[in-house]
Amino acid sequence: MSDHSIDIKISKASKSKIESVDFNNLDFGKVFTDHMFVCDYKNGAWQTPEITPYQPLTIAPSARVFHYGQAVFEGMKAFKDEQDQIWMFRPEDNHDRINKSSVRMAIPEFPKDVFFEGLTQLLHLEKDWIQKGKGNSLYIRPFVIATEEAISASPANTYKFMIICSPAQSYYAGEVRVLFAEEFSRAADGGVGFAKAAGNYGAQFYPTSLANKKGYQQIIWTDASTHEYLEEAGTMNIFFRVGDTLLTTPTSDRILDGITRKSLIQLAEDTNIDVEIRQISVAEIKEAARKGELKEIFGAGTAAVINPISGFEHAGEKFELPKLDDSYATFFKEKLLNIQYNISEDPHGWRFRV
Ligand code: COI
Repeated sequence: MSDHSIDIKISKASKSKIESVDFNNLDFGKVFTDHMFVCDYKNGAWQTPEITPYQPLTIAPSARVFHYGQAVFEGMKAFKDEQDQIWMFRPEDNHDRINKSSVRMAIPEFPKDVFFEGLTQLLHLEKDWIQKGKGNSLYIRPFVIATEEAISASPANTYKFMIICSPAQSYYAGEVRVLFAEEFSRAADGGVGFAKAAGNYGAQFYPTSLANKKGYQQIIWTDASTHEYLEEAGTMNIFFRVGDTLLTTPTSDRILDGITRKSLIQLAEDTNIDVEIRQISVAEIKEAARKGELKEIFGAGTAAVINPISGFEHAGEKFELPKLDDSYATFFKEKLLNIQYNISEDPHGWRFRV
């Protein structure tokens, strides 16, 4: 798909960095491709977009993004199939969501046609950075920052929308253990938890670093008012398997409307796996674990894909999850990857050919 009515100014990198990249040993999000997409907003309109070599930006120290965190982002992936075709997964949903996040952060929405044309042209330029084989992908990070030189606490009049890309393998290396939150909170009613607002993620770093010191990679956030209900893991939505039923929390203004999350719910329905979308209490999960009925916990997200949790701690009590031969996490991951890599049918039309 290419929309020639959208003019994108392209300046290519003089030399590619690709030769220096070890695609078999990638730390998530550390290596970036040769080009980036940039579109500025000023005088009440998005300006002519550009694709330029990936390079540092020059931004005034007074830009509002630095003072008030007026910034939103998305996470998407591109996959290459055995015929060298490039696919994305439900990208319209990412476009919708960045605009929902933007509205909440008083940032102007980004036009869909420019988003798709920019993405398509950038991915065509960077096609060699997308490696074949399940597990390899190009992680795509669209984001918007407030660039206006002004430190009054109000929305900016100028912004930069950008897309950068990073070749990716897995997000988490090794086992993931989690702490259920008892003190800190990620999101509150009426807040920005549903949005991919930059500060949502930054605010998790301190409590997560405390969890890391105790040997946990992530926190499963609980509701801010009672800490009795499990919500999401911050980099992933979260699923529990009790007996053969899959449980996940409903989306709300505290929880990200994850694209992997809703795809898994659909795949569960397609395969007649019982799914309950409802509030999930810490007490019931601990009780199920004690009785041996808690079979799995796993996270679902674009970067993390589907990530099994091997154990958790709450209020000083530690639980280990069993190792299963018939895990839902493995089953859903296989189904999802087969759609994403153009291996299986795509009954819901989720694949998008770039
Ligand atoms: C994603 O899964 O794409 C995300 O945005 C999570 C991010 C914090 C890595």
